[in-house]
Amino acid sequence: MGVLGEAWETFLLIVPAMVANGSAVLVKRGTPIDLGRTLWDGRRVLGDGKTFEGLLVALSFATIIGGVLATAMGEEKRLLYGFLAGLGAMLGDMAGSFVKRRLNISRGAPLPIVDQLDFVAGAAAVLFLAGAPLSVGGLALVSLLILVLHRATNLAAHKLGLKEVPW
Ligand code: CTP
Ligand code: MG
Repeated sequence: MGVLGEAWETFLLIVPAMVANGSAVLVKRGTPIDLGRTLWDGRRVLGDGKTFEGLLVALSFATIIGGVLATAMGEEKRLLYGFLAGLGAMLGDMAGSFVKRRLNISRGAPLPIVDQLDFVAGAAAVLFLAGAPLSVGGLALVSLLILVLHRATNLAAHKLGLKEVPW
């Protein structure tokens, strides 16, 4: 398989993670996964931005997308890959929040790169452990694509007056 074929295969594996990450935002408030607890530094373990409801919505959407891919491609394993991509995405997202809280960055405040790619790293790690055919080159391309898309959509949202800042 060529580089583009590998990148496409990696992209298809990460798509459910992208949907999971995007769908968690639909949850505006819920029960925080850290149940409000703080650590030795006095900061929240994860913060109010990580809820059980968001986790459930993300896992559901990722599994649905996995089911769609499984049906469309005639490959049953895509269903499991979809669920695992969603699970990994949420684990990565929580790891990102954990790191932000330890750095004293409050919930919702930006930490570039980590904010955009924590879920990709988490999804890739879980998919890799499950033996899914990810490629390093493919992951690099998908990550680049996500960074560029974020930049472009935020800039557009700013120009349209939907967002205060262009990042
Ligand atoms: N969300 C959720 N549960 C999750 C993940 C996300 O409810 N497990 C929702 C929250 O409403 C969150 C929003 O999706 O505010 C956006 O997610 P994200 O940007 O990851 O969270 P932030 O609020 O920016 O918090 P953090 O600083 O911890 O990243
Ligand atoms: Mg955020």
